[in-house]
Amino acid sequence: GRNVHFEETVDSTQNIAQKLALEGAAEGTLVVAEEQLGGRGRLERKWQSPKYKGIWMSLILKPVIPIMKTPQLTLLIAVAVVQGIQEVTGVQADIKWPNDLLVNGKKLTGILTEMQADSDRVHSLIIGIGINVNQQLEDFAEELQSSATSIYLETKTSWDRAIIIQGIMKHIEKLYLLYLQKGFYPIKLLWESYSISLGQKVRANTLNGSIFGLAKGITDDGVLLLEDEQGVVHFIYSADILM
Ligand code: BTN
Repeated sequence: GRNVHFEETVDSTQNIAQKLALEGAAEGTLVVAEEQLGGRGRLERKWQSPKYKGIWMSLILKPVIPIMKTPQLTLLIAVAVVQGIQEVTGVQADIKWPNDLLVNGKKLTGILTEMQADSDRVHSLIIGIGINVNQQLEDFAEELQSSATSIYLETKTSWDRAIIIQGIMKHIEKLYLLYLQKGFYPIKLLWESYSISLGQKVRANTLNGSIFGLAKGITDDGVLLLEDEQGVVHFIYSADILM
């Protein structure tokens, strides 16, 4: 393939992609690793990335958009990953806002978007995708065993990770072209169709505190709208959602 960097052991594919982006790497550059020693998740969490068991990769995109629209791309990637996994393995994942992929409430995939930008324009988005593929239950740390799952656990079959990556990249390309031609609206409709957060009462733990309310929808920028019990609508940019 073009612009694919395969690595054996890395700290984080995000760091490698960040460096490549600074050096002027082209849009579509992909970094894939067999193992991450310092894999990271959202909200300063660690991301377990055991060797050969999953897909640990980071994609560089260079959309010409203002910073406030970057959540759109994270939602786009979540949709493409759902579609790619579904097409190749038959596993149907749901999306929990903003971008966790769950199967029966257990986490299959996490997505982490980082960016390089100046005051209002995005230079590069570094979109990290972590997919649990061939883990058996005992491959997960004990504290994750009740909350995580893998494609293996859902299908009782081991999967060739390269085929899944190809399937996902095909869907990313297709949706990204659609986005560039038609904007976010068609992506938003797809995202809503896979979402399990909308219409639910959820608790959003944000850096500024905790809000309980009804998840009403997402804005055209990909921001979650949460209506609290007084009827006040809150715009949630970043939070942990408990359902
Ligand atoms: C989350 O759910 O908190 C996001 C997890 C993102 C994990 C992926 S694995 C590839 C890339 N490199 C990292 O260090 N993190 C992301």
